[in-house]
Amino acid sequence: MMTEDLLAAEPSPVHERQAPHVDAPTYARMYRQSVTDPEAFWGQEGKRIDWIRPYTRVKNTSFEPGNVDIRWFEDGTLNVSANCIDRHLETRGDQVAIIWEPDDPEKDAAQHITYRELHRNVCKMANVLKGLGVEKGDRVVIYLPMIPEAAYAMLACARIGAIHSIVFAGFSPDALGARINGCGAKLVITADYAPRGGRETKLKSNTDTALLHCDDHVQCLVVKRTGAQTTWTAQDHDCNALMAEASAECPAEEIGAEDPLFILYTSGSTGQPKGVVHSSGGYLVYAAMTHQITFDYHDGDIYWCTADVGWVTGHSYIVYGPLANGGTTVMFEGVPTYPDAGRFWEVCDKHKVTQFYTAPTAIRALMGAGKEWVEKYDLSSLRILGSVGEPINPEAWNWYNDVVGKGRCPIVDTFWQTETGGHMLTPLPGATKLKPGAAQQPFFGVQPVVLEPTSGEVIEGNGVEGVLCIKDSWPGQMRTVWGDHERFEKTYFSDYKGYYFSGDGCRRDEDGDYWITGRVDDVINVSGHRMGTAEVESALVAHEKVAEAAVVGYPHEIKGQGIYAYVTLMDGEEPSDALRKELEVWVRSEIGPIAKPDLIQWAPGLPKTRSGKIMRRILRKIAEDDFGALGDTSTLADPSVVDDLIANRMNRA
Ligand code: WTA
Repeated sequence: MMTEDLLAAEPSPVHERQAPHVDAPTYARMYRQSVTDPEAFWGQEGKRIDWIRPYTRVKNTSFEPGNVDIRWFEDGTLNVSANCIDRHLETRGDQVAIIWEPDDPEKDAAQHITYRELHRNVCKMANVLKGLGVEKGDRVVIYLPMIPEAAYAMLACARIGAIHSIVFAGFSPDALGARINGCGAKLVITADYAPRGGRETKLKSNTDTALLHCDDHVQCLVVKRTGAQTTWTAQDHDCNALMAEASAECPAEEIGAEDPLFILYTSGSTGQPKGVVHSSGGYLVYAAMTHQITFDYHDGDIYWCTADVGWVTGHSYIVYGPLANGGTTVMFEGVPTYPDAGRFWEVCDKHKVTQFYTAPTAIRALMGAGKEWVEKYDLSSLRILGSVGEPINPEAWNWYNDVVGKGRCPIVDTFWQTETGGHMLTPLPGATKLKPGAAQQPFFGVQPVVLEPTSGEVIEGNGVEGVLCIKDSWPGQMRTVWGDHERFEKTYFSDYKGYYFSGDGCRRDEDGDYWITGRVDDVINVSGHRMGTAEVESALVAHEKVAEAAVVGYPHEIKGQGIYAYVTLMDGEEPSDALRKELEVWVRSEIGPIAKPDLIQWAPGLPKTRSGKIMRRILRKIAEDDFGALGDTSTLADPSVVDDLIANRMNRA
């Protein structure tokens, strides 16, 4: 089916056997209730999970400057791990909970882990944690490959009330160490090696390096992945050996709805990454509900989200949402192009995947590899496709729709953030007429508003553009920045008083559908990974030969945005290709491979105002190769630096 038809067509039937959870009239009715009477709406929806002590109070939230306070179901108690495992045992003990697909299908076999086995492994891991002295409220950093133990570790923490903080296995020892220290973790769970795309990251060795800069009391629990040799110190504990001996029963602790479930560090427009704190009760209700409704998840479906548990998408839509719903979730260790560009489709065919959720950057890369890779496989099991992480361009949308979905699988373009816990704007299969490239409509309980960026006035009506804010709280919302509630208020609630500020721009079209236009702050989105330009800058200036650096994003065909760095060297240092290489390697080691600049331009000077502020607007334009429209440069201290930057620009279309 071509896009034109799709636009014209009514929502297509999405399931041969079952009606969608939500159709268009149901959406309209439920949405209205969710925003006019959130107490009643969420009071009811909260019952989709099991509570130990039922809540009597549903919503107690304030976006008031100086008094931002967000609580949902605050007097209820529950256990997230019991909700994701124990409550399914009676009816689905033998159902597969997790299908694990290895990096290299020639070396390892896929694993099918039932709910009963999941229970056993999580209990054992929880007992191991307890044995190492981890208690309720303690922080545990998880630095693991995409292996079942990552899910066990998350759920084991949840079981005993410890707060996990996952660090993506692609991050460097420095980044890991900063996060261990940032949340005062007692324990790090890692593995010997992380195979990915046929290569191996030395996780244990990275952890050793990170721990050199941490408190001596931080212990390390090591999971065997490849079994290859690693160093071993007095702080290290062998996870496999301890689990083999641990009891397979571990009671699930009673946890307050507002007790933190996890911390996840994410990049912002200023300073170092901040620890986003999510709650136990509200978060789980929201993750479960969005997973079920956005993906129209039904019993028997095989759902695959290709993200990594190191990102929020992996938290909400590989582990917590699907398991809370008693679903079957695929966990993939590898990358889209290994062993070849057909891997995603091979895995869909092999496991008969029904819902497939990935990022536009992967779609663009696979589109480039050619449709013959898709056509080799039987994708008739697919019912719904999802996209997340950045706006999806129409060309990629159409390819996804036509080549992968054969025109019969609705695409849900889900806009959300680490901070929001779950989907905020998304079409719903069976309820929404799709528009390629638009996140379209709010999920239940979400009240988007478009503001005029400078005045902060609310822009009413359709056919308008501005910054995207949210008017009232939803249960999945982050509660605070770990250890810094003031930063939480300042980052999200101070620019536009009384609203949650997303950091994104958006357009509301003539039909009232939302289109995300991208970040309006200094956050860039590289291959769907969120990166603060300030972080990359501070890594660059930490190099002894660098005097100053400014980093901006520029359009990149595959990655969405690439990293463009302007670097001013110390007096006496000469630019060279060798030095460029050295800086790339340096940034990789300071942050991780995802932060490596794509382009480095030597800048004898940076455009600054007379008060010394770097004019990023100009740097962005030059990086975009769009310097015809530089705007007013008269306020620059030295306008001639701009001519030099233009003459030596790196990105020439
Ligand atoms: C961007 C990822 C357009 C957006 C879940 C947001 C999107 C940032 C979409 C959050 C989408 C995410 N359409 N833009 N469907 N999804 N974004 O915290 O700029 O890693 O602010 O969360 O990604 O990235 P984060």
